[in-house]
Amino acid sequence: MIRSSVLVPALATLGLIAACGPSDRADLPFVRDIHSYARPEIARVTHVALDLRADFERRQLSGSATLTLDRARDAAEVVLDTRDLAIEAVTDTAGSALEFVLGTPDSILGRPLRVSLPRDVTVITIRYATSPDAPALQWLDPAQTAGGQQPYLFSQGQAILTRTWVPTQDSPGIRQTYAARLVVPDGLRAVMSAEMLTPDGTAVPGGRAFAFRMPEPIPPYLFALAIGDIAFRATGPRTGVYAEPAVVEQAAAEFADLERMVEATEALYGPYRWGRYDVLVLPPSFPFGGMENPRLTFATPTILAGDRSLVALIAHELAHSWSGNLVTNATWSDFWLNEGFTSYLELRIMEAVYGAERAAMLEVLGRQDLETAIAEFGADSSRTVLHLNLRGHDPDDAATPIAYDKGAALLRTIETSVGRDRFDRWLRDYFARHAFTSITSADFLRDIREHLIAGDQELEDQLQLERWVYGPGLPGNAVVPHSEAFARVDAQVTRFQQGSPARQLSAGRWSTQEWQHFLGALLADSLTREQLADLDRTFGLTRSGNSEVLVAWLRIAIAHRYEPALPALERFLTSQGRRKFLRPLYADLMARAWGQPLARQIYRVARPRYHTVSTRTIDAIVQ
Ligand code: BES
Ligand code: ZN
Repeated sequence: MIRSSVLVPALATLGLIAACGPSDRADLPFVRDIHSYARPEIARVTHVALDLRADFERRQLSGSATLTLDRARDAAEVVLDTRDLAIEAVTDTAGSALEFVLGTPDSILGRPLRVSLPRDVTVITIRYATSPDAPALQWLDPAQTAGGQQPYLFSQGQAILTRTWVPTQDSPGIRQTYAARLVVPDGLRAVMSAEMLTPDGTAVPGGRAFAFRMPEPIPPYLFALAIGDIAFRATGPRTGVYAEPAVVEQAAAEFADLERMVEATEALYGPYRWGRYDVLVLPPSFPFGGMENPRLTFATPTILAGDRSLVALIAHELAHSWSGNLVTNATWSDFWLNEGFTSYLELRIMEAVYGAERAAMLEVLGRQDLETAIAEFGADSSRTVLHLNLRGHDPDDAATPIAYDKGAALLRTIETSVGRDRFDRWLRDYFARHAFTSITSADFLRDIREHLIAGDQELEDQLQLERWVYGPGLPGNAVVPHSEAFARVDAQVTRFQQGSPARQLSAGRWSTQEWQHFLGALLADSLTREQLADLDRTFGLTRSGNSEVLVAWLRIAIAHRYEPALPALERFLTSQGRRKFLRPLYADLMARAWGQPLARQIYRVARPRYHTVSTRTIDAIVQ
């Protein structure tokens, strides 16, 4: 079970911080999460029942959250996380008012809500409403959707945004089951990261009501909802796609391999434990590529390339059903346990479904991102450590290629050392041993030492696990990925650099990943205006419908001030809000005197349509 459930109040006063050295807390029964006000050792939330109405005019969710508590007998209060919530009342099951106070707001953490607990109270109901600017919620006008007729709402909980729409203990170490009833305007459908009990809803005064239930205990960052004109297409017996009617056919075609992906992952890592696996394709302002909300991955429409070439992102979110959702980082300092494991699983799923060469290309692209990040942070920088010290930071800052690609590199290195069969067996058992719990980096080290290394000192010395987890940079024993296809692309890069015209390059059958590699290799070069025009004319890069290829090309275009591509750049920046794409493009523009006014002008127009996750990042770039 989760460590934080153990009742040792005295330890709570020690102020244990999330990022200590390798010897940290091995002997301590629970982990303090510095990004939550919760005091789970006194009273902790085990179940959340939501009853909410969505008001699109006021951009507000309002109603109640009924929390079931696991409390110490002498607990005087339960401490919850909130941010920008209007709390109307707190009552017990008999409807008697309970005393509560809201603490001082912190710009990252929000405000603690302390509710006094009379003896024997284990269920409390909080009546509340969200703010129109709640960072977890993006309310879209009809014009921001594909259909253009209906408004849309979606939530984004990770890392610590759930507290802006649900008053609960918002820590990944405090797992909770949930149930919900959502009332939405007529003509709209609600979906959640849960079992959908009423797919079509039921008529109620003022709209339709939808009911949901998530019977497995999950970290609250995985509570999620979306409301809009949402249709469904099955892609298999337990997989399918939700999207606006205008997009759903294209999405179903793009994700035609979903069922096979789930089967491949089960064959590797054991049964899928969540029932159905569906994907919701969101409107283009969704700030992430994907978000692994259980039973219902949320995904950006920018992966609808038309040729299934960007489905590694789906493999990634699916993989989180094991690494992340089943076995969860206990604190955001352990974020690499979610994303590093998942990035490794993503490669294994892609290899199983699409072959070794596709996986090798993805792995090399990931390694390039890692090397770029290490060069940017500095090889000695504490930002390049897997187990991060996030004191004073928004946990969002943990989302760098370090967690993803250094984490994946560690697992690949262990796999190579011990052999695939043995490693796969350990990993499958690791998911089973820790299923539905939240663990730390120290727990991972304990598990792998006990169950895989098992006292083999030579192996221990070879792996250097402490150095990987608590040290900076990329350790020297990291396995170097290699792609034959990319070696062939490199030969074409050289030919082009040496003056061969674009039409003479053997690029005819290149995949998206080969294009990414080719364009990535040219980014640092200085190309002539003629060479740029030649590439563009020959390969139609400015009008590419593949978002990854287009972004790689636009970066080259900005680096060379290739003006024919600038209208496409502006169109791209104003038509989607995925942070991974916005960040480099705005940063590239801002790095050039001529680009700054253009960046400011585009951002002024686009900003109101971006999600706050994206504006928080881009505000720091475009000034
Ligand atoms: N869980 C992440 C998204 C996330 C990370 C949200 C940190 C909030 C804070 C998700 O699984 C993810 O990693 N998405 C990536 C795609 C992936 C293929 C690397 C993304 O959105 O780009
Ligand atoms: Zn992820």
